[in-house]
Amino acid sequence: MKRAFTLLIFLSFLLFLVPSIHAQSNLSTEAKINKLLAQMTLVEKLGQLQQLDGDYQGNARPEQFDLARIGLLGSTLNVRGAKYTNDLQRAALESRLKIPILFGFDVIHGYRTLFPIPLGMTASWDAAMVENSSSIAAAEARSVGLHWTFAPMVDIARDPRWGRIMEGAGEDAFLGSIMAVAQVRGFQGTDLKRQDKIMACAKHFAAYGAAEGGRDYNTVDMSERTLRGVYLVPFKAAKEAGIGSFMTAFDDLNGLPSTANPFLLRQILRGEWKFDGLVVSDYTSVKELIAHGVAADEKEAAMLALNAGTDIEMVSRTYGQNGVELVKSGKVLIKTIDGAVRNVLRAKFRLGLFEKPFVDENLEKTTLKKPEFMQAARDAAVKSFVLLKNEHETLPISKNVKNIAVIGALADDKANTLDWWAGDAKAEDSVTILEGIKQKVGGRTKIRYEKGCELLCDSDKDFDKAVDAARDADFTIIVVGETRDISGEAASRSNIDLPGKQLDLIKAIHAKGKPYAVVLKNGRPLTINWLAENSPAILETWHSGTMGGPAVADVLFGDANPSGKLPITFPRSVGQIPIYYAAMPTGRPLETENRYTSKYLDTPNTPLYPFGFGLSYTTFKLSNLRLSSQNIPKTGKIRFNVDIENTGSRDGTEVVQLYIHDLVASVSRPVKELKGLHRVLLKAGKKQTIEISLDAKDLGFYNAANQYVVEPGKFDVMVGTNSTDGLRDSFSIIGN
Ligand code: GLC
Repeated sequence: MKRAFTLLIFLSFLLFLVPSIHAQSNLSTEAKINKLLAQMTLVEKLGQLQQLDGDYQGNARPEQFDLARIGLLGSTLNVRGAKYTNDLQRAALESRLKIPILFGFDVIHGYRTLFPIPLGMTASWDAAMVENSSSIAAAEARSVGLHWTFAPMVDIARDPRWGRIMEGAGEDAFLGSIMAVAQVRGFQGTDLKRQDKIMACAKHFAAYGAAEGGRDYNTVDMSERTLRGVYLVPFKAAKEAGIGSFMTAFDDLNGLPSTANPFLLRQILRGEWKFDGLVVSDYTSVKELIAHGVAADEKEAAMLALNAGTDIEMVSRTYGQNGVELVKSGKVLIKTIDGAVRNVLRAKFRLGLFEKPFVDENLEKTTLKKPEFMQAARDAAVKSFVLLKNEHETLPISKNVKNIAVIGALADDKANTLDWWAGDAKAEDSVTILEGIKQKVGGRTKIRYEKGCELLCDSDKDFDKAVDAARDADFTIIVVGETRDISGEAASRSNIDLPGKQLDLIKAIHAKGKPYAVVLKNGRPLTINWLAENSPAILETWHSGTMGGPAVADVLFGDANPSGKLPITFPRSVGQIPIYYAAMPTGRPLETENRYTSKYLDTPNTPLYPFGFGLSYTTFKLSNLRLSSQNIPKTGKIRFNVDIENTGSRDGTEVVQLYIHDLVASVSRPVKELKGLHRVLLKAGKKQTIEISLDAKDLGFYNAANQYVVEPGKFDVMVGTNSTDGLRDSFSIIGN
């Protein structure tokens, strides 16, 4: 008896080692899906479309183990950690068909090793670095049992009141597409079965960043031409890069919620783009169709979302609670359900979950926070910083400085080294800016730290300590900006000044007339007009992740030369919003002397800092722009060559940017569109020729009939180091 029992235990253990029957055959993935689908009951099918939320420690909730055991939990969000995911996976493999669970999580810009926020990463204009950071995030995420990240967020955003502007790539479709593709490649690689890759998710489909008034979750109303020509461009780039999933947006787009929008999900995503991945709703966005006023109840919400093409329902349970009835009544066809289940099963097969449903519980110990990952995060932070002002070479600070003051609560607050989308990063792993400065120069420089005010800076009662410290110091570093909770989701601001009395603190220090630099730590453009006018140096560092502190010290003390360029326009005032470089010419473009032209009475049309802007500790000079041709056919290509010289005394990196203006077309075209970039490291005094090439087909646009066309005509071209000035020439596309 005992021997038989032991044998039974041994055989059942072997069972876990042997891939599931679904994985064994040498059938194609689609054949395996069909075979599995044919065995599934309708209830089991609906179970695959249900995603539920783990607890905030990363464990599944008790009910979820029960659902997993009967095959009614297709995926989770927030369940993470090798033990927790394996525990729940074991429950799923007790079910009749043993379909593994898909574990998802918001790995937006790092899992445990946190990189700068995506807006900051984009400011590097360095796709290779962004790809590498996503690759590191994927390795860490997969090591803790995750298979799927709800990233990259590719929403174009042109309204800095919107808190989620921190989460994307800024205002430009071309740059946003480059960053989307880089993240897809980094997260997914070329083989999702690898134990260091995860499936990515393009979100939020679509146009969520155009929320009216910059107020999160608010309505979006735009022409199909703008939708296709701007807001969908990075999504299509992500799809072409092979992204495995899309997430629907919370918004209603032109009156139809994105979660139940057949135009977006069936016509464009599946019909035109031939996407065969899965579509997940956003958090309860299916049930929110009731609040949108397009569904009378949960049954109707489920019907609308399923029929529109939302495969997985995140957190709300309308599919599971109404799916059987909807199919019985014919309001949702079984082929619709089957189509959604296929998309889910396809992702699971592609991830190799049937062969390898469990994660090696030793992997996380050897993967998380590897020294090379932390170094990569520091390098990324350095590249993300944008030097906005540096009068009289205030920066870098000499390392021989005897006595410095560091001011600002944000300079040494561990919790605020993280940000709204910090993955599973731990504040205790972060190095603050003050700690970074101490590590850099603490051994020989006297450092005095004063907060000046608490994080909210709503009182000036301690200003005098900060002012005294600055008065007595040879140099003062003032760290100001936003706490982590006032950017990110549900964090729109009606004014984008420095919060609280931070500006008053800076003014009080400024009044002492000693040298100082301002370090900005924020999740969105800020209206820092007084600083721009009066402060000697301003370094934009965004929320810069686990190693942001040492990176700030690297740049402040000259061990690194800043090279970031703004991916988003900084307005002078909220009243200018939306303000972005790729604006339309209008029929009355600004003429300062002519009242009857497009302008404000009380502020210039120009931004405080333009898209593409960023200084360096060295200087660069562009010269000798030449074109391979002045006329190209619609199928042609044109090469632009320009010489760039580092005319300063430090090695440095510059980002050469190429903008075009389609002068006359069947619809009005923006005064400028970024169509090329080249990031180049140049040693002091060196000169180099760089080349940017363009295909005529990339100069097309959506015409009045919403068709993508390339039209003949003349184009101005500008090659510069920001979006406002540079070397100019023109060329034409010829022929019909
Ligand atoms: C949130 C966000 C979405 C995120 C999801 C899961 O509400 O809108 O970006 O991926 O819920 O956390």
